[in-house]
Parts: sequence; structure tokens; C-alpha cells
Amino acid sequence: MAESDKSMARPIVRQDQTKHIKAFTNYSSAGEYFEAVQKWIDETFYGHVVEKLVTNLGDRTDDIPLRVLGIGSGGGELEIMFLNKLLTKFPKIHTCVVEPCANSLTKYQANVKEHATNITFDWQNHTLEDFVGNQQENSLKYHFISVCHSLYYMKNLNKVLQSLHDMLAPGGILLVTITADYTCYGKLWKIIPDLKPETASQQVSSPAERAVSPPPHHRTSAQVHDALRQLQLQYHIDAYACPYKITHCFDEEESEERNQAIDFLTLPITLRDAPKDLLQQVLACIKECSVQRGNDWFFQLEHVCFFITKPT
Ligand SMILES: C[S@@+](CC[C@H](N)C(=O)[O-])C[C@H]1O[C@@H](n2cnc3c(N)ncnc32)[C@H](O)[C@@H]1O
Repeated sequence: MAESDKSMARPIVRQDQTKHIKAFTNYSSAGEYFEAVQKWIDETFYGHVVEKLVTNLGDRTDDIPLRVLGIGSGGGELEIMFLNKLLTKFPKIHTCVVEPCANSLTKYQANVKEHATNITFDWQNHTLEDFVGNQQENSLKYHFISVCHSLYYMKNLNKVLQSLHDMLAPGGILLVTITADYTCYGKLWKIIPDLKPETASQQVSSPAERAVSPPPHHRTSAQVHDALRQLQLQYHIDAYACPYKITHCFDEEESEERNQAIDFLTLPITLRDAPKDLLQQVLACIKECSVQRGNDWFFQLEHVCFFITKPT
């Protein structure tokens, strides 16, 4: 076996979930990303979710709240933006937040204190899989469910999507956002070797940690398309570009900022500890997928949004 093949075959360290969430939070609150998301919410989300729900459910000027479910909500930054848009047409909202990371849930609760009014919350510190397992046959259904950038962590995609669809009320909408297979992440992930399942299970210690461990393969919009077709669920799609400033990836010296930039892009494995030749190969691919403006490098990322409506 050639030297480079041997190093490619060595196991790569599974990324610590806390580190990834920290990196994701830092990057997703950065200027250009946030502006792109705000524009998408004002235009696409408003048209495809808020107005569509008004058409499907009618004006809810009564006291019955719109029922909302968030899966893998993180610190709630994105979901609070959804909720505020929904409030423009639905005066009362009840939202259930399913988030297995206790720190993120605490952060969401702190963010809500600052931003949300006319909304009641049900906090579920669980994985989606456990939450689904706890549902009763007569559990109330939801009018809007969002799964934003959290499908990467769930093992059985078809089962997850079917369960979420089953939890929708007639006329309700399920929104899935995930990175596009045809842009940089797709290319990047093709050259990152799969994390071997046995390696992952050896490194995961507690049952709670196992529940949030990443799947062996990176997931993009391509797998969601396939799953929805197999399940014969009706959907339409939209996409939005999100430039991430990742200049520190290419710093000569190792630093916390450089490590965080690399961790963010190589979810869910830690490539900075990988064999040097593989790291160089990945950094070259990241550069190829990025554009330079002034002294900064921007990773050209696109997210795909799937809108799945339950027939009325
Ligand atoms: C990349 S973050 C996305 C956060 C937020 N939805 C956003 O878009 O800003 C992924 C989130 O999914 C959560 N997660 C991981 N495994 C999960 C599971 N099995 N069920 C539900 N959520 C999960 C993580 O704890 C994390 O908060």
C-alpha cells in the first residue's frame, strides 16, 4: 500500500459535538451569513411558509395557537426569526423545542427572554428519535415543523422524515434545510473519507453521547431528495447562498481561530488532527471552493430548503 493510501486509511477523530456547535454558532452569527438568512426569511420563508399557512389554515384570529415544532434548534437564533415572522399573521403560537444539547437549550431560553412574546414553549431536552418514541397516538399535531441543519446527525433519514410528516396537521408545512450537494460542501465531503462506524462507536462513551453521534456518511440535499421521492411525499424546493468568512483556515500557524474554521467546515470529524497530507488536500479543496475579496476568503456555500406540505 502506498504511504498516502496508508494515511488515508487511518481513523480520523470524531468531532466533539460541543466544539462543532460553538464553531457553527460563531460562524452563523457572522455578518454576511446573517444578512443572507434575514433576506431569505423576509422573502422566501414569508411567502412559502407564512402566507401558505394562512391559505391552508385560514386566519387564526381566535385564541387557538398555531402549533410549531423545532427539531435540533440549537440556541434558537434561526427559529426565533421564524417565530417572529409567523407572529405577523398568527397572534398566538405554542412551540415545542427538541434539542438534545442542554447548553444549547439554556441558550435558547435566554434568547427567548429577550425576543419572544405571545409564544408559549415546551422544552424537550431529547433527541428527535427519543421525542418520536414518546409520542402517543392521540398527541396533538403541528402546523409548522422545522429541521434546520440538524439532519446531519440523524441516522435513518427515511424514518425521520416519515415520522415528522406524520406529526403534521392537515395543511401543515415541514421545512428541512440542509447544505446543497452541488456546491462546495458536496465537493469537499466527497474527498473526505468516511468515518468508519466502528471507529465512531469506539470513541463514543455514554448513551446520551451515542444518541447525538454523527452518521458514518456526510449528508447533503441529494439524500433528502432521494428519501422524499422514496416516501412519495410532495415537496418543492428553494435555495439560498451563504458566504462564510473562513480566512483563518489558511493561516500558516496553528491557532484556536484556524482550528475552529477547519472544524466548522469539516463537520463531523476533526481533520486538523488528521494525517498532514489529507489536511493539505482538504485545505486545497476549500480554497478552490472559496473566493477572495480583499484580504479575506469566503467559502461559497448554498443551502437547499425543502417545503413539504401535508394535504388538507
Ligand atoms: C448545526 S446545529 C443547527 C442549529 C439550528 N437549527 C440552526 O440552524 O441554527 C445542529 C443541532 O442539531 C442538534 N442535534 C444533534 N443530534 C440530534 C438529534 N438526534 N435529534 C435532534 N437534534 C439533534 C444539535 O444538538 C444541534 O443543536
